[in-house]
This record gives sequence, C-alpha cells and structure tokens, in this order.
Amino acid sequence: MAQDIEHEKTAHGERAPSCTMVIFGAGGDLTKRLLMPALYNLARTGLLPDKFALVGVDRLDMSDASFQLHVEKAVREFAADKHYTQTLNEEQLERLVSCMTYMSLDFASADAYKLLGAKLADLKVTHQVGDHVMFYLAVGARFFGGIVDQLGQAGLVTENDSQWRRVVVEKPFGHDLESAQALNTQLRHSLAEKQIYRMDHFLGKETVQNIMLMRFANGIFEPLWNRDHIDHVQITVAETVAVENRAAFYESTGALRDMVPNHVFQLLALTAMEPPASLSADDVRNEKTKVLTSVHSVNPATDSVRAQYATGEREGKPLLGYKQEAGVAADSTTETYVAIKLGIDNWRWAGVPFYLRTGKALAKRNSEISIHFKRPPISLFRNTATESLTPNCLVIKLQPDEGASLSFGAKIPGPKIEIGQVHMDFHYKDYFQNAPSTGYETLIYDCMIGDATLFQRSDSVMAGWDIVKPVQVYWQQQGQNQLSTYAAGSDGPQASEDMLAQSGRSWRPLL
Ligand code: BG6
Repeated sequence: MAQDIEHEKTAHGERAPSCTMVIFGAGGDLTKRLLMPALYNLARTGLLPDKFALVGVDRLDMSDASFQLHVEKAVREFAADKHYTQTLNEEQLERLVSCMTYMSLDFASADAYKLLGAKLADLKVTHQVGDHVMFYLAVGARFFGGIVDQLGQAGLVTENDSQWRRVVVEKPFGHDLESAQALNTQLRHSLAEKQIYRMDHFLGKETVQNIMLMRFANGIFEPLWNRDHIDHVQITVAETVAVENRAAFYESTGALRDMVPNHVFQLLALTAMEPPASLSADDVRNEKTKVLTSVHSVNPATDSVRAQYATGEREGKPLLGYKQEAGVAADSTTETYVAIKLGIDNWRWAGVPFYLRTGKALAKRNSEISIHFKRPPISLFRNTATESLTPNCLVIKLQPDEGASLSFGAKIPGPKIEIGQVHMDFHYKDYFQNAPSTGYETLIYDCMIGDATLFQRSDSVMAGWDIVKPVQVYWQQQGQNQLSTYAAGSDGPQASEDMLAQSGRSWRPLL
C-alpha cells in the first residue's frame, strides 16, 4: 500500500505548480464539454501552470494535430457558448492547445502504460514540466480499477518528496456500498488515500461552496440553525433535462445512484454539518462525514418515493415519456425521480426531518435548499391564528438563479391587522460579476495545488452508500410495485407530495 507523503503547498490564487495532466477518456463528452473549457478558463485567469503538458489518452486513433484541433473546437464551442461571456483570448487558447499531445492506448495493455511512462519522461525534457503528474479518469466507472492497477504496476503513481502523483476519479464511485468498498480497496493497492481525488462536481459550484460561508461567516444564521428553531429542511435538485443521449448509462443507474449518495448528500452535509475546527481538508471532511454517519436508518416503505416520467408537456410542447426515449427498454423500471425523508441523530438535528428530492424532465430547473422555521409559539394578533401564519423560510438558491431569499410576515397596510408574506431577496448577479466557469476549474486547480477539501474522502462516500442501502434493497424486492409515474414537465409524482402530507407539510413548488 502506498505511503502518505506531504508535498509543498501552493497558496490558493497562485499559479499551480508545473505538472503534466493525463486525461483518460480524452475523446469523450466530459473532456470536450467541461474539462477543456475549464482548462482554458484556468489558462485565461493565469492559474494554469507556466510549464504545463497534457496527454490525452483514449482508445481511438488520433494524431497530436487532430487532438489539438479537437480541443480547439471544443473550447470554441463550449467555453464560448455556456461558460464564457466575452470573446476568447486567442493567445491563451493557442498556448493551451500547444501543450497537448495524444496517445492511443488500450486501457488493459501493460505495454501501453510503459509507453505512457516513456512519454511522461519525454515531456519532462521537451516541456520542462518536472515530475508531478495528475491522472484524470474521465472514463466509464468499469475502467477505474483496471487503469489504476496498471498505473501502479507501471510505477507511474509512485511518489517521493519532490514528485506527486494524483488520480482524479469521476463519479459514480461504485453502484452500492459493497462495490464502492471493493473499488476503494482496489485503488488503495496502488494509491494512498491522499492521492485519490474523488470528484463530485457539485462541490466546484460557487453557490455550493457558499453554503459553508453563508453559515459560518455570518453571525445571524447559526444561532437559529438547529432543532429548537427549524421545523424541517427541503433539498431539491430538479432538472428539466430528460435522459437525452445517456440511456445506456442511465438505464442501469437511475436517479438514486446518479444523484443522491453524491450530489444531494453533499448538499445535505454542508447544510447540516457542525462548524469545522479549521478549513483544512481533513477538518471539513471530518464534519461532513459525521453528518452522514449520523443519519438514522431510512424506512424505505414510508420514507422513499421512486418514480419515472411518462409523456407530458412543457409550455404547450409535448414531451416523451422515459420509456419512449431512444435506447430505453419499453418495459424499463428505472427511476428518473426519487424523494427520501431522513433524520439526523445528533443534538443539533434530532427530530428535524430532511426531505430530499431529485428528478429529470421536471417543470423547472431548480436546485435549492430551503430551511423551514418553526411558527411563533403564540399569535399576538387579533383574529390571526398562529396556524394560519406562513412560517419563515430561508431558501438558498443554487441554480439557475443563485442567491438567497428569506420570507417573513409583515403587516398589510390598513385598519385591520392582517399579515402578508414578504421576501428579502439576494441575487448573486446584483453584487458580483459571475466568473465564467464550468465548475470544474476549481476542482482541477485544487487537485494541482494539492487541496482535497472539495473532493470526497472514502469514508464519506461509504457513508452515503450506507444510507441508501436499505432503499436500494427494498426497491429491488418491490420491483415494479414501488414505481410511481409523473407527467414530464410536471412538479413530480403525487406520491412525493403524499409523503410530506403525512406530517402536514408540502414541497415548495418548483415554479
Ligand atoms: C451528473 C449526473 O453528475 O450531474 C447528471 O450524472 C446530472 O444526470 C448532472 O444531470 C447535473 O449537474 P449540473 O451541473 O448540470 O447541475
């Protein structure tokens, strides 16, 4: 098993140290749409190393020149489109592209990794990039273990005091607790925990990082952030996109595995964690993991909802049902929506339900965390029953309109005492200029400078899978019986509303 070695740290905001990045899956969608625009944004903002080389690795045959052209096109299309607002910086783009080479490689061939080793040695000379290497596994999950085994056997992930070797592993990390543990054991044969950067791209989003800042850099929220004042919490990650061209992946994955143990639980952990002792990677990740390990066992029969979208419409336009999508089996039972109620057994949260929901083909793209406060104990106001007052609600909006909103009651002008709901709204865009970003910039840069705070540690991944395990087992046993439907373009299935209605609560509308 590899040893933990400490390397010199680069301060945040400084240029990353010279290194080579090797992307496995360089011909794939993730590389094209997100990694290349992110690298371009890092180059543009002066954070990419001065001396940098990138080796694109994939099974396709491609020359260096055609790979460079592929990258250039990707940056022009995706950085300029979604993640950039001004014209491209041609000089930076050219510089970035000129750092790139390509290697066609059979992921399972030991000889190919020897050639990769020789290539890295060449780049040290031609690009003067030194010995640090970051391997990025942008490939299907079934390849993760095999590639890391091969890297280990070829001696490519061995570290010493002046050489770091880091491996970024995309999600999904396993498909249940047992497979995640097995994958982790396999990776740990070749890598120390510190060398493994388990990616959850939600943690690269500015607004997700802001949850911790909002809670711990302000004095007004924390005193109320507990069971004495909070009635319940809702976490929503609603998407309008349907399965698109990902049926092959999605059919065997479904909404629970795709979104819950990773993205949604990261939001849960950031919302519910205790203040960390410091902002070091270990202190922050200790607190996040503690939350997940304090979640009490979910009763899937009453506290989970599993649903699939049927035909529907949005703005008058008809939408396909999941079973009609290309590549989806006509009798598919894969869920495209999941809702779960859970509780956290600790002093801060005992008795406060957390409701989580995520789904595709919904009415609105909307990711938010809403904190629903308790009602005041008595109503002082004539003819105004406490029950009829709408409780205060703090909504942290993650996407697409980043910001926060606090609702409270105010007197409606006039002779009668009547209370109306008002909102105090903060929109990010009113205060800060949005940095063009795919969300991957922060994470790639953090890996280069050796800051693992925004990456998942193995204990938190396992804690996530452990929470969903009873749900996975129950759904497996129930099969088709457990699957509700909802119209594409709607707010989700009735069963999800019913789950909250049992305790007199309701979801915030998506619209
Ligand atoms: C991915 C999931 O991890 O996250 C997708 O596999 C999902 O199914 C996506 O659509 C959501 O991320 P974002 O950044 O588009 O909100």
